[in-house]
Amino acid sequence: MDFNTFSQKELPCLEEFLVEELQKNMTNEERLEEAMRYSIEAGGKRLRPLLLLLVLESFSAPVEKGKHIAAALEFIHTYSLIHDDLPAMDDDELRRGKPTNHIVYGEATAILAGDALLTKAFELATLGPASAEEKITLVRELAKAAGHTGMVGGQQTDLDGESRALTLEELQSVHARKTGALLEFAVFAGGFLSGVDEHALALLDTVAKRIGVAYQIRDDLLDVIGDAEELGKNIGMDVKQNKSTYPSLLTLAGAQEALQQELDTAYRTVNELDEYCNKIGQPYDKQLLQTFIDQLKLEGRVSK
Ligand code: IPE
Ligand code: IPE
Ligand code: MG
Ligand code: MG
Ligand code: MG
Repeated sequence: MDFNTFSQKELPCLEEFLVEELQKNMTNEERLEEAMRYSIEAGGKRLRPLLLLLVLESFSAPVEKGKHIAAALEFIHTYSLIHDDLPAMDDDELRRGKPTNHIVYGEATAILAGDALLTKAFELATLGPASAEEKITLVRELAKAAGHTGMVGGQQTDLDGESRALTLEELQSVHARKTGALLEFAVFAGGFLSGVDEHALALLDTVAKRIGVAYQIRDDLLDVIGDAEELGKNIGMDVKQNKSTYPSLLTLAGAQEALQQELDTAYRTVNELDEYCNKIGQPYDKQLLQTFIDQLKLEGRVSK
């Protein structure tokens, strides 16, 4: 199966689940809850939860088993975007094709809506069909991916990069943490809940690390050559904030080359995983991850 077919099959159900879970136990704190719903219902590509579910499907494991942790991951990602857009951070006014949360609800409520989505994610991670032991591992790994050792830590170094030029090594570490950590978690959670062995998990981790860095290089490139309407967010923001990015450090062509290298390693490792699964008799559909990686190419775009 390919990524588009999988996405068409799973996305409607995932969207419904996100909204349903968010609305559970709402207490009529109207402004706060409306702000939480605003950013979740604004849409987004839902790449992280889809990736998690896709990995389960690729090992012929039941997708249902990953639904709660996938939704938790999207809540954390959405909170991170609300905070990322705040005036004290990237100071953005457009997100998912709509005014950013703080533009609509004010900074204080936007901060609280982010806090509440982050907290709700951990409530959700404890629910659903996975076993109690599986949930403990997932909650621990999700916390590590989202916190100072992962996404939040990466965002701090990203902010440091506004006042001094980061080295390429530092920039790769920013990308690996601020964006890579949640994508890595998605792939890990899918593999872990599928019950695959340590070697398969290690190969998956390599694929995920390359996808993670590639995704942020692509995001940096799209901030220069992308289209605001298509992206649902303003472009040119990184230059405005004087960010250290792949294009600023390596030029557009150098950043595109770096992106391609990450994707090549990811494809190679998917093939290695496929060979390993064949050898041990583990069912595996490599087309799902391959076509997910295909989405990250920039082909066909014209550089400005
Ligand atoms: C944007 O993430 C922030 C980055 C980590 C690059 P997405 O590109 O996944 O944004 P949505 O969720 O589709 O809006
Ligand atoms: C995303 O990085 C980092 C997050 C963890 C939210 P960016 O700041 O580049 O994301 P966009 O470009 O605003 O979506
Ligand atoms: Mg940012
Ligand atoms: Mg930003
Ligand atoms: Mg960006």
